Amino acid sequence: MSNRQFRAHGGVRGTDVPRGSLLFEGSFGRMFRTLPATQFSDPDLENLARAMTAAPELDPDGKPTATPETETDNEENQGINAGYTYLGQFIDHDLTFDPMSSLQKQNDPDALTDFRTPRFDLDCVYGRGPDDQPYLYEDDGLHLKLGRQLTGSDFDPNTPDVPRHRSEKGGRARALIGDPRNDENVIVSQLQATMLRFHNRMVDHLSEGGKHPEFTEVQRFVRWHYQWVVLHDFLPTIVGQDTVYSILPHLKKKTSIYVDKPDLRFFHWRNEPYMPIEFAAAAYRFGHSMVRPIYRLNTNLIGSGPEKDPINGRIFIFTPDDTTQGLNGFREFPSNWAIDWSLFFDMGNNPPKTGIKRVQKAYKIDSSLVNPLGMLPLSVARDIRSLAERNLKRGLRMGLPSGQDVARYMDIAPVADTDLRVGKATEEDAKKNPLLTTISSTFADNAPLWYYVLAEAQQQFKKDDTPIRLGLVGGRVVAEVFIGLLLGDSHSFLSQAPSWKPDVKFMDTGKFGMADLIKQATKAQ
Ligand code: HEM
Repeated sequence: MSNRQFRAHGGVRGTDVPRGSLLFEGSFGRMFRTLPATQFSDPDLENLARAMTAAPELDPDGKPTATPETETDNEENQGINAGYTYLGQFIDHDLTFDPMSSLQKQNDPDALTDFRTPRFDLDCVYGRGPDDQPYLYEDDGLHLKLGRQLTGSDFDPNTPDVPRHRSEKGGRARALIGDPRNDENVIVSQLQATMLRFHNRMVDHLSEGGKHPEFTEVQRFVRWHYQWVVLHDFLPTIVGQDTVYSILPHLKKKTSIYVDKPDLRFFHWRNEPYMPIEFAAAAYRFGHSMVRPIYRLNTNLIGSGPEKDPINGRIFIFTPDDTTQGLNGFREFPSNWAIDWSLFFDMGNNPPKTGIKRVQKAYKIDSSLVNPLGMLPLSVARDIRSLAERNLKRGLRMGLPSGQDVARYMDIAPVADTDLRVGKATEEDAKKNPLLTTISSTFADNAPLWYYVLAEAQQQFKKDDTPIRLGLVGGRVVAEVFIGLLLGDSHSFLSQAPSWKPDVKFMDTGKFGMADLIKQATKAQ
């Protein structure tokens, strides 16, 4: 396949970020350098991608259906709320840059240069800073610019959009943000706006009492609070608290990081940490299986007309051809689509368990992607439009080792072929899901790493309501990379002040998680 054919996102994913800037340099590398690359044929991967993409849910008349809000959807992950999917995507964009646009080098990870520093530094929020990209900032050089006012959220009547610019009449209103990828769907773009507001809230907070904070001071505190959320909320939610403790034992023992030292077994670097290709092209793509087909953005869309309200006020994540009916990004969406974050995170107000005001759950981490991801919008992918196929072929081109080889390297017993099935982790599907090896015998003891990480997580499935997090291989890879990048970043709170804690004024509940960050963001002036 030519590189041209494999270019994605219609030139969107970061292609307009300037190259060659020192700020955006970083490099890819391999965590498991000595392991051989697996080989598969393209048709085998295409068949697997088809099996990993769920059928559309339609009624006998061919109209889309969805589980009523009064019933539990058996594809929901009872351990993970839906907001973590998009926090995960946001973090991905903060850490990685899409190698697609780098032409020939893209399939040569050892020589590949990422545009971005693999750090939790919110460069997707700050861009290159107020001196270099002043149009992202207010005239004071401190506050970040926000966009038009949105309506519909009972949680926050002042929800803003990200700032947008329409270059020609009738053209798309593109987001004016540090990383264009954070406008890829309506949810991640509203998360970006929330992060902008959290920065503005920090400006206001540090300006209390007539003080004049430096931009770099504000930025440091914003980054540290975000890093805290990543380490203490996102990571345990995805990999489980025990895996985090096994790498950072001082957190469990409540001692010093210098006494109970970090235990990174597989992620090592010489001078600067790099972006492991096993993480970017496989393990961290677990989030694709958490995407739901349909979301309630707020509770006021119900009954607002068939165009914006295909099923009882809920909106499809994507429609294939970028109409106004899905949560497709890279455009100005209807202004009554303000996100109500209490439908995505547990904001601590005892949310009901059923009904339209309940917190939506992420879909399960399993070897099944929802149907809309089988035909990505043209604004996201022009050539190969199945996300599963893109991921599997990317893994092959990047020369990834098999999931079983990675497991053995890590001294973990690989999941047996007789337990590796393809499809949804539900009581209804579990028994009829085909074995991976029936799709092709080349997959015997030789599973693509991305598939393996999902199928490994799926082994936790017992009943429809079993929470599913990443397993031993996927969880360890993701946690080591996150913690390694924090430890290797000389500006992170773990490097500069390992016992640092978030501002007590931000910890109403005695902790600081994503819900608390959002609450602070909504207080910004
Ligand atoms: C609606 C949601 C999402 C869509 C449509 C989406 C789409 C895509 C696409 C088209 C690619 C490029 C694939 C390729 O050609 O190699 C990609 C890459 C990737 N995605 Fe997603 N993604 C979504 C959510 C997520 C989430 C929730 C996570 C993780 C928690 C994630 C992690 C990644 C990673 C690590 C990569 C590779 C690096 C990069 O290009 O950013 N994605 N995604």
